[in-house]
Parts: sequence; structure tokens; C-alpha cells
Amino acid sequence: MSDPKAFYLTTPIYYVNDAPHIGHAYASTAGDVATRWHRQRGEDVWFLTGVDEHGTKVERAADAGGVTPQEWVDRLVEDAWLPVLETIDAANDDFIRTTQTRHKERVQRFWEVVRDNGYVYSSMYEGPYCVGCEEFKLPGDLIAGEGEFEGQQVCPVHSRPVEHLQEENWFFRLSAFQDRLIAHYEANPDAIQPRSAYNEALSFIRQGLQDISMSRSSVSWGIPLPWDEAQVIYVWFDALLNYATAVGYGADPDSPEGRRFAQCWPPDVNLVGKDILRFHAVYWPAMLMAAELDVPRKVFAHGWLLVGGEKMSKSKLTGIAPSQIIDTFGSDAFRYYFLRAIQFGQDGSFSWEDMSARYTSELANGLGNLASRGTAMVARYRDGALPAAHDFGAPEQELITALAAAVEVADRAMLELDFSTGIVAVKEFVDRVNGYVTEQEPWVLAKDEANAARLDVVLYTICESLRAIAVLYNPLMPKAMASLWQQLGAQSTLGPIAEQRIADVARWGQLLPGTAVTKGESLFPRIEEAS
Ligand code: ME8
Ligand code: MG
Repeated sequence: MSDPKAFYLTTPIYYVNDAPHIGHAYASTAGDVATRWHRQRGEDVWFLTGVDEHGTKVERAADAGGVTPQEWVDRLVEDAWLPVLETIDAANDDFIRTTQTRHKERVQRFWEVVRDNGYVYSSMYEGPYCVGCEEFKLPGDLIAGEGEFEGQQVCPVHSRPVEHLQEENWFFRLSAFQDRLIAHYEANPDAIQPRSAYNEALSFIRQGLQDISMSRSSVSWGIPLPWDEAQVIYVWFDALLNYATAVGYGADPDSPEGRRFAQCWPPDVNLVGKDILRFHAVYWPAMLMAAELDVPRKVFAHGWLLVGGEKMSKSKLTGIAPSQIIDTFGSDAFRYYFLRAIQFGQDGSFSWEDMSARYTSELANGLGNLASRGTAMVARYRDGALPAAHDFGAPEQELITALAAAVEVADRAMLELDFSTGIVAVKEFVDRVNGYVTEQEPWVLAKDEANAARLDVVLYTICESLRAIAVLYNPLMPKAMASLWQQLGAQSTLGPIAEQRIADVARWGQLLPGTAVTKGESLFPRIEEAS
């Protein structure tokens, strides 16, 4: 019997020409939150990220650094790219490097299959190439340069002139897939999201697809072509395959890796930035069709973090390191901020002011305050033992109904990668519970023993609401929610927070009366003014 299909999500694999900035961390965080949500639903999940190590851009960076490309990538992966996953608290299942043997061998095998199927031929390429994009540019792709590049044609992403290439190489018969791609996307209008990305990709395909080089003869840092060792595989046609090689493409179907491939393929989501949409929405599915493999169910193109109106970038040296923000605010607040403040799929920018303001109002004063008030009052009024509650009244019924609605909205939104809508649904529930505390005035009830039963109901309701919030926010803010789970004493009766299911969150009355509730550390401590 085969295992059920796993929810398989990938991030782009990033070029290791330099260290990561918050744009890369943003993409990886989004993938991490989405996959943690699916895990919280009880699904089998596979979350892949990694790095793209070949090509001219990396080779030149290594040259400039005075080391070999292999030394360069080894050092950056060890010192920067792996550590950043810890910094943002990513729970990836695997990390692929394109210099790994598993990748190189399977890439070679893939292209032999495509060649055997008749989609590869030798020819001459002449035209523009942007090393920043590692892309053969088409005439309509370039724009007029400004400033020092006035009068020249430049790449719209890198704002620099492109290079002119003339070389003998091997071509992939992309043109053969135009009609199949159009038919596929017409039948699956959700296969590219957001809608603007779908429209862009489809209009590109409809303009007519030209065959494209799949190898390079003037580059040496890459995977050798198996049938022509003087050439290497074009870096994009090596990199895209990571999504297949990492989960065991080409492995014996009875081996653990082969079974992984059967369980994961095709990807449910290839998460990418809009800068690399064409590769993922056009070239990548065409390659898979040429090898007779299923194409991904969805490619989602997220927006850019901007600096001064332009894409933050390694090449332009405008990057902010994730640790610059996380050292101050912590990984949970970083994760919260970027997915809550920017509509996923659109561009956004980072500002210390906006981050500080939301941290203070939504996390410290909103959720943090609710948690500390709730747990502190159980400690003070009930010696830290969660009271049993009888007779939930109208205010409690309203909260219970609001919770069910919040779970439904959040679940639907998170499955659609509409993070901000999902987060706001939970945040509004937090606000409602804070409002409930203000209205019920448990500190007033506590003054008169005659209100003891009513106080029990209010305290139980606050803690039970916090139980639900902890589970709903666990994929987004795993550190703070683990701490909240601890403070609620939930582990001993309900088990680990990771084992709570989204489908059960709204079921009221899960915390067991008598459970030890403790007021622990503040979930979102006040931030010292950033100097
Ligand atoms: O393109 N804002 O790698 P790359 C938001 N190796 N996201 C950003 C960003 C920004 N300013 N800058 C980068 C490559 N990203 C290829 C990919 S995949 C088979 C190969 C994120 O290092 C965004 O997800 O240029 C973007 O698509 C990705 O990093 C590109 O990183
Ligand atoms: Mg780039």
C-alpha cells in the first residue's frame, strides 16, 4: 500500500553569491508558516528549502573573494544560509544544495530522459544575458537605462546593462509545449497565483514560446552535460530540478527515497518571488512535461520587499540581515510582522516604526497582555488551579461562536496562503477576548465571595480562549505559543501543542479543571527603544 500524498511545499533555492537578507527570510518564513499550518491540521508534510550554488553569478563572487567556487559556497552555506533558518525558526524537512551528488546525478539523468524523448538539440545562441538574473533575455524584456547607463538597454530587475553572448550550446524545445501549457492553465486557473501572476504568465506563453538554451559552453561552474562534457547545464535548468531531486526523483521506487518521491510528487506549492515567475510557470512545467512527470499543482508568486521603491537585493547591496530585526524583536514577532502587515502576493516595505508600533499594540498590549492577565488572575484568585466552570452565559456563548467563525476563516485563508487574513481572524478573536475581560471585570467579581461561581466561569473562559489562540498561532509564533501552552498547563492533560488539531480548536471545554496555571515570562517583552 502506498502512503497518502504528503503536502509538499518548496521555497526558491537561493543563490549563494552573498549572505541572505530579509527578502529571502520572508519567502522561507512564509513557507514555514504554511507548512506548519498543514502539520497542525494533521497532514503529512514535506517542506523543502535550500541553495542554488552554480552559475556565473556565484562563480564571479568566488573569484572576487579570491577562493574557488566550492570553497565560497561551503563557507557561505555554513556561516550564513543554514544559520538563518535557525534565526527565523524554520522547521524545514530537508535542505538541498545543488553541489550535492544526489542532485547532480539526478539532474544528469533527467536531461538524458528529455534528450531521449527528442526535446534537445544543438544550436548557436546569440543574444543578451543578465548575470544578475542568470537569464537569456528577450528583446521586450529590457528597458532604457538611467544615470550612468543612460542610452543603454538594462535589465529591469538589476538596473544594469546585460552581457552579449554568442555561443554554441544545446537547446530545449520549449516551443513544443506552448499549446499544452495553455491548455493546462486554462483548465487549472488556480495553478498560478495570485491572479496577476496567472495573467502575466499566460500572456507570455500566448505571445509564442521560443526554444531556449539548456546548456552553457562558456561557463565551467556547473553540472557537466552527460553527453557533451565540454558544456555544463544552464544554471536554471539545474536549479529548478532541485524540487524533484531532493525528494528522490530517479531513485529506485522501493528505496526510502523512491517512496518519498511517490509520496511527495507533484509539489502542492512552489513558492517563489515574482522575479522568478517565468521560470516556474513556463519553463519548469514544460521541462516536466518533456520528462513525462506531473506538473506542480500551484506556483505562488509573492511580492518584493522594497527599499526606496526598488527590490531589496544582494547585487545592489540594499539587504537588511534578518538578525538585525530578530535580535531586537525575536523570531516570532518577525514572522508575525511580515505575514500580517503585507498582503501576500503584493510588494511591501519594512520600517522600524511600523514594526515597533504593531509589536507594541498587537503583540505586547494585545495578546501578551491577555495572556499575562488571564494566567495572573488564576494564580491570584484561585491559587493557580484552573477552576471548573458551570453555566456559561450569553457573553461566553458569543465568544464560543466567534471562535468557531475565526477558526473557519483562518483555516480557509491559510490554505490559500492569504496569511494576513488568517492572522487578522485570530487577532480579532484576541481583541474580543480582551474586550470580554474588560466587560466582565473579574477583579471586581473577586471582591465578593457571592460571585465565586461567576468568577470561575470568567477565568475558565479566558484560559480556554487562550488555549485556542495558542494552537491557532502556533504555526506563526511557535516559541511564544509553546511558552503560553506551558503557562496554561495544557501539556499534562492535552499533550504537546504540535499534536492539537485545527479541526478541534473550536471544541469548547478542553482544558481540565484543576490544571496548574502559572504566570510565566512575558510573551512579548517591552522593547528598549532601538538606537
Ligand atoms: O532567483 N523581497 O535566487 P535569489 C522578497 N537561485 N523576496 C525576495 C527579495 C525581496 N527583495 N529578494 C529575494 C534565485 N527574495 C534563484 C532561484 S529556484 C529554482 C532558483 C526571495 O537568491 C524571493 O523569493 O535571487 C525570490 O524569488 C528569491 O528570494 C530569489 O532569490
Ligand atoms: Mg535574485
